[in-house]
Amino acid sequence: METEKYYDPDWRDRFFQKWHGVDVEGILPVAAIASPELAAAARGTFYQPIPVRYLKRILKSAKATGIPFRNFVDMGCGKGKACLYMGRTGAFRRVIGVEISSPLILIARDNRNYMARKTQVEFVQADAQTYLLPDGPTLVFLFNPFDAIAMSRFISFNLRHFQRHGSIIAYAFDIDREVLKNHGFKTLWRDDKNRLSFHAIT
Ligand SMILES: C[S@@+](CC[C@H](N)C(=O)[O-])C[C@H]1O[C@@H](n2cnc3c(N)ncnc32)[C@H](O)[C@@H]1O
Repeated sequence: METEKYYDPDWRDRFFQKWHGVDVEGILPVAAIASPELAAAARGTFYQPIPVRYLKRILKSAKATGIPFRNFVDMGCGKGKACLYMGRTGAFRRVIGVEISSPLILIARDNRNYMARKTQVEFVQADAQTYLLPDGPTLVFLFNPFDAIAMSRFISFNLRHFQRHGSIIAYAFDIDREVLKNHGFKTLWRDDKNRLSFHAIT
């Protein structure tokens, strides 16, 4: 898959990286983060970090739902930027990053260890298509991590979780929203310009 810049970073992203001394910025093609076999099985996109301004917006909107979220899970966490950001806010009991690529999960763990005294984040190397979400109301973050087939598998695998716990999907660069609709999700709100939306089974 060709790389394409979904969102432009700005001064907040440069500040986040510099202030915390972490390595999260830059775009990495699939060839740089996974073997071809792994990439094909994962059906994933390339690495690209979510800008801080979107994370702020997602957190604010999550709080506005009134749901007492227990977990934040980033499916396809890459170098861990979203998890490191959410971990520092203290808004969630558990913050988990799930990533298929071993080079990226190692960088994510290094980043966390550097920030160890400030945030508790778990980084798990796994394929999202067969990853079971933890119990409790969860804010599941997707930044266009994989194609529609992998998305459908992830949702099917976790459908009972969404039905039971009332978890929400925060979806950035939400090109496969139709998959969610087909699995019974409703769009709670959408920012068309920024292609950012929240979804839940209501
Ligand atoms: C667009 S990046 C998003 C990175 C991160 N969520 C962020 O917002 O900063 C998508 C990530 O999903 C990962 N990915 C792709 N397919 C995956 C799969 N099946 N399971 C887990 N991670 C996957 C890629 O390796 C890549 O790091």
